[in-house]
Amino acid sequence: MKARPITTVETVVTGIEEAGAGIKLFTLVDPDRWELPPFKPGAHIDLHLPNGLIRTYSLCNEPADNARYVIAVKREAAGRGGSRALHDEIRIGDVIGVSLPRGGLDRGADIARHVFVAGGIGVTPFLSMARHLVRRGDASFVLHLIVRDEVPLAVHLTPLIEAGRVVVHRTARSGRPDLASLVGEAGAQTMVACCGPESMTNDFERVTAAWPAANVHVERFVAPQPIIDPDAKPFTLSLARTGTEIQVRAGQTMLAALQEKGIEIATSCCGGICGACKVGWLEGKPVHRDRILSPYERERYLMVCVAGSDGGRLVLDL
Ligand code: FES
Repeated sequence: MKARPITTVETVVTGIEEAGAGIKLFTLVDPDRWELPPFKPGAHIDLHLPNGLIRTYSLCNEPADNARYVIAVKREAAGRGGSRALHDEIRIGDVIGVSLPRGGLDRGADIARHVFVAGGIGVTPFLSMARHLVRRGDASFVLHLIVRDEVPLAVHLTPLIEAGRVVVHRTARSGRPDLASLVGEAGAQTMVACCGPESMTNDFERVTAAWPAANVHVERFVAPQPIIDPDAKPFTLSLARTGTEIQVRAGQTMLAALQEKGIEIATSCCGGICGACKVGWLEGKPVHRDRILSPYERERYLMVCVAGSDGGRLVLDL
């Protein structure tokens, strides 16, 4: 069966900067110095590393500056290997394939105020967002950065801290701040967003549970434990473009079933949080389980790494 090619954009590493607390900033550019595909503030890309790993990182430069992609990577010694490979093996001049940028925040026409909450290295998507808002002269935002003590990317955040746009909360000195009071009252004109460790994003979801879903945005960098459905039943995946039928065994993921048949699907987190494996669906009744698609997007797309089927047949736009 013909594999589905995964599209990447070739980039070259032109800068590696130490950014404190085990963090490095990598600058990626087009080999011929063309502009790179545009991105929204807070968007992320998948890096296809030379060792075969695919890992997702937020872009921290400003969207108006799409001559380069800048990512911040914290070396996680006990992680899944992507940050170690970047820190220990990647050098200036190396070629890295990247996906088209995904996600990011749309600045809704009605939004008059943004409140961002970041934990540690989770500040990276908001760095891009804050730079974007500052460049537009939009002063109606605040970024609450919660750290144990040391501020990550301090060189880049200091101007925003001095301008009062970033408020640093050091838990080693003053304990953990109350997220409900940082976020404030729900309002149709306020957009709130959070990126950080799972305990923080869970708390954030709890305190914003009554907010309109469109005004709340959560970015995760650790996938939750996979959901085991004891009642899962086998089903048939039908691929609309080729007419291929693939059986998904009870408890098997769609992703595994597709890969078994040689269908190549881009993946990164394999836990429904990064958006890399997004596929369109045309017929059937998907069970979504991802933590990234909006209700509107779920009417057309699913994440094959975590989605299931509430029925015997599901037709994918593949
Ligand atoms: S691989 Fe990340 S959402 Fe599926």
